[in-house]
Amino acid sequence: MSATGGNTAPTPPDIAARKSQAPLVCLTAYTTPVARLVDPHCDIALVGDSVGMVLHGLPSTLGVTLDMMIMHGKAVRRGLERALMVVDMPFGSYEESPEQAFRNAARVMAETGCAAVKLEGGENMAETIDFLTGRGIPVMAHVGLTPQAVNALGGYRVQGKGEDAERVIDDAQAVAQAGAFSVVLEKIPEALARRITEEVAIPTIGIGASPACDGQILVVDDMLGLFTAFQPKFVKRYAELGQMAEAAIAAYAREVRERRFPAPEHVFKGESEAIPGGDAA
Ligand code: KIV
Repeated sequence: MSATGGNTAPTPPDIAARKSQAPLVCLTAYTTPVARLVDPHCDIALVGDSVGMVLHGLPSTLGVTLDMMIMHGKAVRRGLERALMVVDMPFGSYEESPEQAFRNAARVMAETGCAAVKLEGGENMAETIDFLTGRGIPVMAHVGLTPQAVNALGGYRVQGKGEDAERVIDDAQAVAQAGAFSVVLEKIPEALARRITEEVAIPTIGIGASPACDGQILVVDDMLGLFTAFQPKFVKRYAELGQMAEAAIAAYAREVRERRFPAPEHVFKGESEAIPGGDAA
């Protein structure tokens, strides 16, 4: 049973039509095996540029390249059947002009098979979003805290507090009017997320933006406890896979040093025996 009740992935218009309905469930994925885990449960799988920090150990998303996004996008594509696949446009690949954005987004779509791209920005990106959507490239927008602008914003702090709220509202309205099929709201106060969700016509997908949104997204490695360098307040850890993996690796190292692994059942003795899922020995 898919997250949308059918066997095919929802399209961007399907997602747009989910405004004010059952919450949209979204997670990031960067590899085929994790995409396979995410696929049966999520409406959207995002190949986020968070991959740079989560899998490549970069200090921010600024060093992520188009080639990295395409490589991870291809891997995720192989693991998805039911979720809509969206790929992030990395820093420097779309801001220069609508034409640059189209050229690179078209390459991402052609080479990864994704159905849509995501880009960060509000009013400043409205012209680009209009250009892309008018030429067959569905766009998920991203306003509030936009991590690619970490240097201009002065850090990863909550956005839209006090008088700054109007700026975030204007950004959300601008991307909706430009044709985005949904908008990520990152790290903004609950009252602001509620107001934007009530006022814009497209689904809002929150990360650190309260349950008032039309859907939620988390970085999969954060919620699985695999990325532990830091834990934002908005992350809930549904598992501690990092701790489990460390304990498993420590047990392996101990058993190898104590010559307890490999045990007799892992050893070929020379006789012919069928190995389940493998070759005859
Ligand atoms: O890169 C990313 O993973 C994202 C989500 C957290 C929204 O942009």
